[in-house]
Amino acid sequence: MIARSLVAALALAAVSFATSANAQDVAAGEKSFNKCRACHQVGETAKNTVGPVLNGLFGRKSGTIEGYNYTDANKNSGITWDDAVFAEYIKDPKAKIPGTKMAFAGIKKEDEIKDLTAFLKQYGADGKKK
Ligand code: HEC
Repeated sequence: MIARSLVAALALAAVSFATSANAQDVAAGEKSFNKCRACHQVGETAKNTVGPVLNGLFGRKSGTIEGYNYTDANKNSGITWDDAVFAEYIKDPKAKIPGTKMAFAGIKKEDEIKDLTAFLKQYGADGKKK
């Protein structure tokens, strides 16, 4: 009995540790996203501005936000956004998608990219937090 509740307590501790580590990433990612806000919005009220809305990014194809006027370079890149391809892109957007009009030098720090990824992954295609 004691052993069983100990296991349960440990499991619970592991879960809350994982959650708080993730919450930290998300909080750091939110700060990092300030670098994107001049051109991008996320959330339920997000609108296309200089750049497209970034809701539901992971898992969708590049250039598919309705009503946004993408370059052919972005539309035809053949990219489906996942962690790896997003990391490559955000390090140097013009290297990954030559001809893109996204004028952004890039984020080089791996940790910051991970945090930004955690932040963006919260938002489903409808802009609601998952
Ligand atoms: C100066 C404005 C600007 C900034 C700053 C900027 N972007 Fe962009 N972004 C754009 C534009 C414009 C496009 C559309 C590119 C095209 O059509 O070639 C774009 C496209 C994208 C795309 C492709 C979206 C899709 O639907 O295929 C992603 C992902 C993206 N940006 C992420 C980011 C992130 C993350 C940041 C911050 C770290 C950021 N951008 C900062 C202007 C910007």
